[in-house]
Amino acid sequence: TWTTGNVIEEQVEAIREQVGTRRAICGLSGGVDSAVAAALVQKAIGSQLTCVYVDHGLMRKGETEQVEKDFVAATGVRLKVVDAEQRFLTALQGVSDPEEKRKIIGREFIRVFEQAQAEIIAEAGESGEPVEFLVQGTLYPDVVESGGGAGTANIKSHHNVGGLPDDLEFQLIEPLRQLFKDEVRMVGQELGLPEEIVQRQPFPGPGLGIRIVGEVTKERLDLLREADAIAREELTAAGLDREIWQCPVVLLADVRSVGVQGDGRTYGHPIVLRPVSSEDAMTADWSRLPYDLLGKISTRITNEVRDVNRVVLDVTSKPPGTIEWE
Ligand code: XMP
Repeated sequence: TWTTGNVIEEQVEAIREQVGTRRAICGLSGGVDSAVAAALVQKAIGSQLTCVYVDHGLMRKGETEQVEKDFVAATGVRLKVVDAEQRFLTALQGVSDPEEKRKIIGREFIRVFEQAQAEIIAEAGESGEPVEFLVQGTLYPDVVESGGGAGTANIKSHHNVGGLPDDLEFQLIEPLRQLFKDEVRMVGQELGLPEEIVQRQPFPGPGLGIRIVGEVTKERLDLLREADAIAREELTAAGLDREIWQCPVVLLADVRSVGVQGDGRTYGHPIVLRPVSSEDAMTADWSRLPYDLLGKISTRITNEVRDVNRVVLDVTSKPPGTIEWE
């Protein structure tokens, strides 16, 4: 029978056997999956694990600081923060195609991990054990939707599945590969992770890079970060965080529409709100948020975010729409 205790015990044993005395690194994204995967691997191999947080510049407001503080406080894990904003933005320059973006982001993640690996080895000197493993918080739905499951089509390349380069230098440890999100949350709870981490809404590894329809630039990211922060703030204030699965906020960077703001005509970009309810992200329904709340978010975004003159609501279920726009 399935219990969180069994899953943890089984995985801990399997990881110990796989890793032996060698070392591993784990990419932390700030999300539930990588946090639970890291905590599980830490339970198995302790200080043989180093977590690497890649700040790719595609994060939401306050995200990096939260990982640096909360996760380290909760687990005591060894953490390396890499500032890779320039690297990612350069690699994404001129790219608008969603799958291409995902592949580039997946590839750059791995390159940064390889660099971190080299640094960790150098720090330990010649006596250090090799760093041969990369831990990822891949879930069952990620595997299925990236075309990894039997008889499934590739819907999108999740950055940590279909986006991996062919010349990967790491062996993968993916202890959550057979689990769904709710099960991962239960495992995280059992491992003693705090509520703020375990109950966090999902956020994709490629971050805001796949929430800008069009080319990703620093300016557009800053704009989207502002709009996203307002939407999150209002959803939290309305007490709806636990009720909705997640609410992507999307910038239609290649679309402009005419508006009237202040004392004149504007020609700005629309922001899309995509609040969804779901059990496991495989299917989803659009959330019926209160009109007053939607109105407040719309007023604030158009007042406070430069270049945005329209807020629209996505009322599509999944299928046919996926949760993210790219
Ligand atoms: P879609 O858009 O496929 O999203 O309906 C399903 C769930 O997966 C999240 N998502 C990702 N998570 N890496 C991740 O870690 C990714 O590349 C990725 N793409 C989508 C999405 O936010 C939703 O919760």
